Amino acid sequence: MELIVVNHEEEMSKWAAYYILRQLKQKPDSILGLATGGTPLGMYRLLRQQDKQLYAKATTFNLDEYAGLPAGHPQSYRAYMKDELFSAIELPEAQSHLPDGMADPEIECAAYEEQIEASGGIDLQILGIGSNGHIGFNEPGTPFDSRTHKVELKEETRKANQRFFDKLDDVPTHALTMGIGTILKSRKIVLLASGQEKQEALRLLLSGIQTVDVPATSLLDHPDVTVIADCAALPETVLEQAAISFSMEHLNLMMT
Ligand code: PGA
Repeated sequence: MELIVVNHEEEMSKWAAYYILRQLKQKPDSILGLATGGTPLGMYRLLRQQDKQLYAKATTFNLDEYAGLPAGHPQSYRAYMKDELFSAIELPEAQSHLPDGMADPEIECAAYEEQIEASGGIDLQILGIGSNGHIGFNEPGTPFDSRTHKVELKEETRKANQRFFDKLDDVPTHALTMGIGTILKSRKIVLLASGQEKQEALRLLLSGIQTVDVPATSLLDHPDVTVIADCAALPETVLEQAAISFSMEHLNLMMT
């Protein structure tokens, strides 16, 4: 596991955008795994400013979708992706995939899993991390070999996501999510973390002890994971020993 330490969220977003752009330049028909939530917003903002043609041959699969929200609902992840990225790039609609939160969950989850397999598998998966260590909507306790499935969201996750809704009661109670096993099949994984509320989850991940109580620790077995974290998200002890830290000058050079 590689750790890139950055000063703040904007630098994290720049790194994340760089990974996506590099992937598409190296392999235009890449299969991208995308995430929603607050963390990747800066990454999408930067991608909107870059070459929109890069995505013509790409395929995307999002990690998750709320159950019970139609695709047109403003808080659905389909709507989020349209607003934040899809409306600004040349990605044919048939090449972007999110689970359908209104479909029969069992049939939809099996079909989603099959679509990912049939595509050849995800080349680059972008992940956020929940303050409870979840990845996608895989809450603590989820088996590491789980595949796309319906989950009941933890109260803490619903509260964390309340900021996108008018009130807590409006936050869906269930979601469809790629499983941890699905995520682990991605060839490369980039996990983004920013802000102090992610510090405990990152401390547990970087401690290197694997437990189903912290879903992100499943990544410890994966051969190609890069964690990009800002200083606020990293505990002092990790900051002191941080193995890899790049200067922004270095990144600016790579982006051009
Ligand atoms: P956030 O969520 O980006 O909104 O903090 C991350 C996650 O829950 O995976």
